[in-house]
Amino acid sequence: TYVVTDNCIKCKYTDCVEVCPVDCFYEGENFLVINPDECIDCGVCEPECPAEAILPDTEPGLEKWIEINAEYSEKWPNITEKRDPLPDAEEFDGKENKFEQYFS
Ligand code: SF4
Ligand code: F3S
Repeated sequence: TYVVTDNCIKCKYTDCVEVCPVDCFYEGENFLVINPDECIDCGVCEPECPAEAILPDTEPGLEKWIEINAEYSEKWPNITEKRDPLPDAEEFDGKENKFEQYFS
């Protein structure tokens, strides 16, 4: 499965949503997650993210994000259409440790 990671927070470009063939993205206020049971591992979302926030879960060090994607995809609503990015997306692209301050 693929997972959404830190740099999506406060950017939420949503280009990923548009290309996913199985509509397995779920939306919080500042962040999206992928439902690991629904993701078919096609990989098409990864290069579409302008923030490079989507990674295959086989990359090392993603344990925290694997848990977050699994947990919040059960709590948040499904999103199936692209929206405008968050207003400060460009400013927040690349900021460190967004999880601690802005995860929601
Ligand atoms: Fe959707 Fe494919 Fe990305 Fe999984 S890897 S979230 S199925 S686009
Ligand atoms: Fe987030 Fe990138 Fe999608 S910023 S909403 S994972 S396109």
